[in-house]
Amino acid sequence: MVSSSHFAALAAALMLLSACAPAAGLSSRRMLIALYAVNSGTARSTAVQSHLNTVNKAIGATLCRQKMLQMNVSAFTFYRGSNELYYQDLKNQSTISATGSSFYSATATPWLQGDFHAQNMGTFDNDVNTVIYDLNDFDESFVGNFLYDVYRLAASIVLVGRENSMTDTDIRSCVVSFANFYLDKMKGIYQGTISDSAVLTATSAYGRIDDLIINAAASDTRKKMLDKYSTVVNSKRTFMTNAQNSDVDAVNATERTAITNAMTAYFTNTVTSSLKGNTAYFAIQDMARRLNAGTGSLGKPRYYVIIQGATSDSSDDRILDVKLQGKPSVYPYLTSTAKAAVDNAVANDADRAVKAYKALIKGADNHLGYMSFMGGFYSVRERSPFKEALDTTGVTLSSLTNLAEQWGWALANAHARSDGGLYGTPASIESIVYSLTSGVQDTFKAQVADFALAYGSQVSTDFSLFRTLLAANKLCL
Ligand SMILES: *[C@@H]1O[C@H](CO)[C@@H](O)[C@H](O)[C@H]1NC(C)=O
Ligand SMILES: *[C@@H]1O[C@H](CO)[C@@H](O)[C@H](O)[C@H]1NC(C)=O
Ligand SMILES: *[C@@H]1O[C@H](CO)[C@@H](O)[C@H](O)[C@H]1NC(C)=O
Repeated sequence: MVSSSHFAALAAALMLLSACAPAAGLSSRRMLIALYAVNSGTARSTAVQSHLNTVNKAIGATLCRQKMLQMNVSAFTFYRGSNELYYQDLKNQSTISATGSSFYSATATPWLQGDFHAQNMGTFDNDVNTVIYDLNDFDESFVGNFLYDVYRLAASIVLVGRENSMTDTDIRSCVVSFANFYLDKMKGIYQGTISDSAVLTATSAYGRIDDLIINAAASDTRKKMLDKYSTVVNSKRTFMTNAQNSDVDAVNATERTAITNAMTAYFTNTVTSSLKGNTAYFAIQDMARRLNAGTGSLGKPRYYVIIQGATSDSSDDRILDVKLQGKPSVYPYLTSTAKAAVDNAVANDADRAVKAYKALIKGADNHLGYMSFMGGFYSVRERSPFKEALDTTGVTLSSLTNLAEQWGWALANAHARSDGGLYGTPASIESIVYSLTSGVQDTFKAQVADFALAYGSQVSTDFSLFRTLLAANKLCL
């Protein structure tokens, strides 16, 4: 359903347009929008420094330093590790508002992935054992304006393109392809010609994404994943030591007791699939701390728990991924009404990440739920044996166009699935996006591309300031 406030906002924007530019055409409509202005120099360096030091204080100096070294790899890894900076910049320049976009609407608010960049998608198996390529991280999800996800992915396309020495003309074309597919799929879903249940599988995907799905399905197995992290001791799966696999480490007695005690409430009260309450299935075999995972979330407390699975055979055991959750990066920039619409409908932030996952993904993992222990709320999901990331090395105009199209498709499907009126979402996000953009699709694509190229330059500037700060030991203080 399309709300009247959306029409009111559009009418107000049009009145403003005709007041300022009597001969208003599409180009003057575009000129009214404040383009993102790149910040640089000493003031920016200070802003980046204080921002990174504030945000990473909680994880402590050692893990902060590890995260900074990970961010030091490229402008794109810096972007992955600094989502909060993106939201602060968009707030400071009023980018997601009627002055920053002619496609702003207060009601265009699906569940957001919340940190939507080119590496927050990947392969995994859904609850009917099909390997798909889709959004795969919901830690930063909240309900908010759709442009936050569109813009963040668009800027990541620019970073991927520039990393591969593509020209800005070609990069712009790829961003336009992304926005084009997003709009086109939204329109098709709105008009009922396609379904928001569609997923990218070996049948529907093409190019590198298709190759990735096919390879994951052919070469990944549960046993291979289990054997990467554990060995079978007296017919029981036991995690490797940190010396055997540096990505895991032993839990201490406090952690072991806390997780063991939290387990029953997790599978009895928070799992909603047919696995709910299955004591034999969820019998703990072993547990470990998970180290070195992610970029943005590097340093966040995280555990792996091996459970029995369907049979007592150690080859069908499952690994649960248990991760501490807090408020997402977008949170401080939302209205109190928008915050409350989600906060009042979820039990805690781990439940919020789980609800987002279920809203955005078709056939979401049936192990989803949350645990409460040691004063925190931890989301629980299965670690998929088919988890693989896309390699964007060497992309060209043609291959990056293919990827951008499918990213637009995946995002449109996810946003379109996530509405329905709960949590502050509209009844139909596809109808709102369609009416905002109908007849002015090219203006939309141009605005997305203008932002992405400007913000890509902001990230490159920041990355170079960041390297100087890192070399001068001014981070993680
Ligand atoms: C955003 O604006 C605030 C208030 O003016 C300022 O303190 C902050 O440094 C700015 N953030 C960035 C990233 O420029
Ligand atoms: C960051 O990366 C640059 C370029 O590879 C390198 O020269 C520098 O030593 C790195 N910084 C740290 C602290 O490792
Ligand atoms: C065990 O780990 C927890 C969580 O990391 C920590 O807070 C606690 O101090 C550790 N306990 C001991 C005895 O080392």
